[in-house]
Amino acid sequence: MSRLATLEIDGKKYKFPLVQGTENEIAIDIKTLRAVTGGVTTIDPGYKNTGSCESAITFLDGEKGILSYRGYAIEDLAEKADFLEVVFLLIFEELPNQEQLDKFHSDIKAQSLVDEDVRKIIDAFPKSAHPMGVLSSLTSALTAFNPSSVNVDSEDAMYNAIVRILGKFPVLVAWTLRKKQGLPLDYGDNSLGYIENILKMMFHKPNEEYVQNQVMIDALNKLLILHADHEQNCSTSTVRIVGSSHAGLFASISAGISALWGPLHGGANQAVLEMLEAIKEDGGDTKKYMAKAKDKEDPFRLMGFGHRVYKNFDPRAKIIKAAADEVLEDLGVEDPILDIAKGLEQEALNDEYFVSRKLYPNVDFYSGIIYRAMDIPTEMFTVMFALGRLPGWIAQWKEMRLRKEPIGRPRQLYIGETHREFKTIKNR
Ligand code: SDX
Repeated sequence: MSRLATLEIDGKKYKFPLVQGTENEIAIDIKTLRAVTGGVTTIDPGYKNTGSCESAITFLDGEKGILSYRGYAIEDLAEKADFLEVVFLLIFEELPNQEQLDKFHSDIKAQSLVDEDVRKIIDAFPKSAHPMGVLSSLTSALTAFNPSSVNVDSEDAMYNAIVRILGKFPVLVAWTLRKKQGLPLDYGDNSLGYIENILKMMFHKPNEEYVQNQVMIDALNKLLILHADHEQNCSTSTVRIVGSSHAGLFASISAGISALWGPLHGGANQAVLEMLEAIKEDGGDTKKYMAKAKDKEDPFRLMGFGHRVYKNFDPRAKIIKAAADEVLEDLGVEDPILDIAKGLEQEALNDEYFVSRKLYPNVDFYSGIIYRAMDIPTEMFTVMFALGRLPGWIAQWKEMRLRKEPIGRPRQLYIGETHREFKTIKNR
């Protein structure tokens, strides 16, 4: 006997089934709400209380600060896995064995050339263009060079689309950076590992041999794993809703990149560094920025703090904070910004405004400090977030299509003018 929720409207009672997830979350299934009540709907700006789907990919417990991909704890994956293993896990539901991983990587390498005509598109951008705008455009342009929609009923067609975007996206990321730096575009080297190849494409100088640095490889591997998926966040929900109209995978991901760009979402990692720099320029006056963040009249927010789901530490922020110390030390980088960030965190964690609202550092608070130590320009930070989030977007898009989810089309509550008779212009 399924458990029921009872809703009473004007003395009439309606019952709706309670559905329970594998981690004991409970949801009210209101699929029949409008039909049985004669048109009553719900309203929930920002979907703070509304689930858009059932998903088996990522689990978050915001109160406990728990994050897992397909049942594996983020702490274990960040410490012990390679990024490509996590990509495989998110998309194909299981960690790969060596043979599966080798084949997956080989199939991705086979797709890692980008049509030369894409260069004409990137050449047309001004150097001043924000890399997220370039990346979103180039990703959308890939639809012009590849089948625009995927036959999801064909396992081969789905697999080919997946390895195609996994092969080409890192090239677009590297080209976006090199365009900004006025460097010739680099095609990578298929003899390298997935992470090593990304670093080589990004940092290789045409007049010298690129020497791999294990600290950089390990840091990027960990950062990409930590960003790989995060259930129904803004950009992933965008990828799902765009894909629900049966738009292609590349077009859906391009839309997700644009959603990620916003400073309230992935763009926060760039905004955090700009905020920390401003505090440094201000002589490290964190109190001024704390006051601004608490002032309702001031639109300024403490970037990298707060989260829609986490009302405890973001587990990713804890891992990145620890990694920041190690990476900066291993790279021999002294960065006062890290100390300012730690000072700000301490102040906020002892400030009633932040404590009462359960505002803690999120994934974006410390990540930029590592990217900066790796010589990645601030404007590229959100592009690096997108590179990490790509497998999550792919996995969520695939799950939505294979589950044959209906087209996403929310209702609304109309609060505009009621009927009015049209007047011709001479009578207005
Ligand atoms: C990401 O969803 C995901 O999973 C996203 C992400 C992922 O992996 O995909 O985790 C990645 O986007 C992380 C978040 C990065 N964004 C930032 O760091 C920007 C700064 N943070 C905020 O703008 C805010 O915390 C959000 C957008 C992250 C969450 O906003 P909510 O859930 O809509 O919360 P809210 O705006 O309703 O805030 C609740 C209260 C408000 O105060 P009151 O009206 O109750 O008095 O907390 C205050 C807010 O003013 N508040 C902040 C604050 N964040 C919330 N006050 C100052 N500084 C902040 N950062």
